[in-house]
Amino acid sequence: MTLEEKIAMLHGNALFSSAGVPRLGIPELTCDDGPLGVREEIKRFDWASANWTTDSATFLPNGSAIAATWNPVMANKYGVVIGEEANARNKNIMLAPAFNICRMPLCGRTYEYYSEDPYLNSQLAIQSVKGIQSQHVAACVKHFAANNQEFHRDSVNTIVDERALREIYLPAFKAAVQQGDAYAVMSAYNKVNGYWCSENDFLLNKVLKKEWGFKGLVMSDWSGVHHTVAAANNELDIEMGSSGPYDQWYFAKPLLAAVKAGQVSVKTIDDKVRRILWLIYHTSMSANHPEGAIATPAHTKSAYDIASESIVLLKNDANLLPLNAGKIKSIAVIGDNATRTFALGGYGAGVKARHEVTALEGIKSRFGKTASISFAQGYKAEYSANNTDAQNSGYDQPDKNLIGQAVALAKTTDIAILCIGSNREYESEGHDRKNLELPFGEQALVDAVTAANPNTIIVIMAGAPYNLNEIKKSNHTIVWSWFNGSEAGNALADVLKGIVNPSGRLPFTFPVSLNDSPAFALNTYPGKNLTADYKEGILVGYRWYDTKNINPLYCFGYGLSYTNFTYTDLTTNKTNYQPGDKITVSLKVKNTGSVAGKEVIQLYVSKLNPSVLRPAKELKAFKKMMIAPATTAAVSININAGDLAYFDSKLSTWVVEPGQYKIMAASSSKDIRQIVTIIVR
Ligand code: BGC
Repeated sequence: MTLEEKIAMLHGNALFSSAGVPRLGIPELTCDDGPLGVREEIKRFDWASANWTTDSATFLPNGSAIAATWNPVMANKYGVVIGEEANARNKNIMLAPAFNICRMPLCGRTYEYYSEDPYLNSQLAIQSVKGIQSQHVAACVKHFAANNQEFHRDSVNTIVDERALREIYLPAFKAAVQQGDAYAVMSAYNKVNGYWCSENDFLLNKVLKKEWGFKGLVMSDWSGVHHTVAAANNELDIEMGSSGPYDQWYFAKPLLAAVKAGQVSVKTIDDKVRRILWLIYHTSMSANHPEGAIATPAHTKSAYDIASESIVLLKNDANLLPLNAGKIKSIAVIGDNATRTFALGGYGAGVKARHEVTALEGIKSRFGKTASISFAQGYKAEYSANNTDAQNSGYDQPDKNLIGQAVALAKTTDIAILCIGSNREYESEGHDRKNLELPFGEQALVDAVTAANPNTIIVIMAGAPYNLNEIKKSNHTIVWSWFNGSEAGNALADVLKGIVNPSGRLPFTFPVSLNDSPAFALNTYPGKNLTADYKEGILVGYRWYDTKNINPLYCFGYGLSYTNFTYTDLTTNKTNYQPGDKITVSLKVKNTGSVAGKEVIQLYVSKLNPSVLRPAKELKAFKKMMIAPATTAAVSININAGDLAYFDSKLSTWVVEPGQYKIMAASSSKDIRQIVTIIVR
């Protein structure tokens, strides 16, 4: 290959591709977003729709919904669907999954990301990647690293100590690379500790490629490159971006010049090309490359399975759920979100959904034969991610007329199902939310409808934490759903009807107040002078709330079921362990109710008398299990004693401190059921 041919492979030649070498039969590399499904085809050189009629796809539940399943099998299903649909559209790389840690509740991409916990993220990331790549499509995991706010995302310098990087922000990337064998990584827009992620020697060279042995390629985020020589020598492999002229990009003519001037070696260029070829051999040029398929019944089933395991029952104090369809003659379905679709909206990747079942459609299909179902809009969702704040002003005001109509309707029905929350305009890439409040004057609607109908069920569809203080205080029945994909309405209706027993658990903490959350308590968001100093270090998410004794509104790992589970007989296979040992934790979990249900058994670990700061507890393992009614399941879960280590920044190594550790078997991070103490020597 000539140097020119090689360099042509190292930068975009269109919005979502980079060049091959036709002379040698090396194909173009094609990629596409993204987290919610294979995005609609856009024009080769601009972001406008290509207006294809064959690019509709399965809309998969958003990242925090996948995380709420607490089920890696669901992440794998997600990946397989994405991979099969990517093949049918001739895409070699899917720009997914995205799993930056949910550090700050207002981050606009919280809905796209998974959770606030590195272990939960890791388990899901591994399986998403494996699912995608099982179809000979590369997963490009993103955004590496510490891209936890959208405000100033392309200029902010994240200051984060190495311990927090190693314990919180990097583990899921490491797991995706080492256990998931991800073929590609996307560098983030921001700087980490003074260096752009696209030219960060520590992240890309030292950690990713040298320490983790990453064999694949590093691709920049779109227009996220800042220098030619620094990026090339610090292990960025491909520059991607939005608009041309492509030959002027950092990794085009300037890179050729830098090689000729001796600033970047031919060996460095060859390494990048070799990585691209390696990826091509595993994807578009792989043997037995699958053809792929779009929106098959199996894909719809996967979307349904994920959605139905993601829904979180937050409150069921009146035992109103599951609804007794035989007794209900009339249902008022209220709220803009009952008829809204979520596949598209805001900035960032969406999906032209082949189909998307709304809540109203789902409720009609599950209850329509036995009950009359009527709809009232309840509120107007007048907010656009493209608007200025001034243009959006007033978006939070209730609409008295719509509330009046909703109340009039709710007074006449047996049940009111209120579908509120946010939408894809309100939660969007490129912006953070301004506060935790429910938008569109929804609280006023909730209050009015609840007063009019004592059998009001609150269904909240959103992708991130909100202020639910009032609703938690005043409402007896609260269900949390998400931007839940093509089958969202069916899954929701099946949960309401009890065809599905809810088993979702919150993937992040809902704080009582924004000021309780670390970034706000320490005044580090959005940062000063374009610097976000992650002063809370390792105390992210429940690690912060628990260690500081701050009670959350809803804690990490929380979610109810239509049955109850008791935990007994917690033991470990030994009492004393060496750091290389496997700790086998056993317990019995009994379903004491009359319906089958899935319980998420969570194992948290805490070091007793640590010599360094340790979080009050850390999730080290979990298992989701279906347990039949009145049945006791024997549960066995392994933890590597080595995973009890903390990262010692001074020694730059992981250290398993000898001493006592508490292992807590829990139904949520605040609901510890059983404790056993072990010793590591
Ligand atoms: C986003 C990426 C995305 C890329 C291409 C960027 O703005 O941060 O997540 O993959 O655009 O659409």
